[in-house]
Amino acid sequence: MNQFISTHPAKSNNTQTGRADGFETVLLGPGIGAQIKGIQVGDSLNVQELAFVRQALNDHSVIILRDQDITPFQQTNFAKQLGDLRVSFYNRYAVPDQPELSVVSNIKKDGVAIGIEDAGMLWHTDASYLKTPDMYTVLYGIEIPHREGKVLGNTLFTSSWGAYDALSNAMKAKIAHLRAKHSFIDHLAKKAKVGNLKRAPLTEKQKAELPDVDHPIVRKHPFNGRPCLFVTEGHTSEVVGMPRQESDELLHQLWEQLINPVFIYAHSWRKGDLIVWDNCAVHHLAVFDYGDIPRKLHRAGMIGPVPVGI
Ligand SMILES: [Fe+2]
Repeated sequence: MNQFISTHPAKSNNTQTGRADGFETVLLGPGIGAQIKGIQVGDSLNVQELAFVRQALNDHSVIILRDQDITPFQQTNFAKQLGDLRVSFYNRYAVPDQPELSVVSNIKKDGVAIGIEDAGMLWHTDASYLKTPDMYTVLYGIEIPHREGKVLGNTLFTSSWGAYDALSNAMKAKIAHLRAKHSFIDHLAKKAKVGNLKRAPLTEKQKAELPDVDHPIVRKHPFNGRPCLFVTEGHTSEVVGMPRQESDELLHQLWEQLINPVFIYAHSWRKGDLIVWDNCAVHHLAVFDYGDIPRKLHRAGMIGPVPVGI
């Protein structure tokens, strides 16, 4: 038996759930979200640390390592230990000498944005508009906004397997073999419609590189086999082969299911937080409550497999 396995179910907040060789996980949310204690990410994780991190990620879908002090190079190395990194097409916001790392920030230098300003404004999973969406995302908190002692700019996560499990049998049967279209072009249009698009229009070359794709509405997790809901407010535009009105109604029903608070873990950031999440198991949303108070994070995404239905 793998000595690093910690497969205890979520019972309550702040419950110690696993311990091995000086590492431990502490649950933070409803079945998703766990802090890992006892690991300091330097140039690379050793075999035991990497095994513990992988298992915790598989068990808890979102993992948090606090009080880290790492360089962009070290963040890239850490992320590479978990998967193959994708170079973002928004390369204008890449960290210098680290093309796989993007800056997420509202900071401007000489009037010019230093990073992506509108990332995560709608519920989504990263890169679902690609044939091979991101399996994991690694986000590192460098500058975290506060107002009057309150932390701002939370990231919310919802459990896509928890939301699926709680559906009625009739709904599960209805969506079992349906597919839905995911579109980055439609995503930008949705943001523009509500007036919060903060990025330059895509070039024709970028548009050509981002054709719409379709994916199963219920996706089988590639590692643990859990059925996960895979439609997002941000990027899913229609159910394939379904009349538009019926499709809109079904998608809204599933989105409502996903944002039920019982499935959500809200992460309150601290400088030095290093978070990894599983984009199949959770969907996420950035909270924009900090205005011009500076916020800066570095992000990396790992290429996942082609989503497979149940
Ligand atoms: Fe995201």
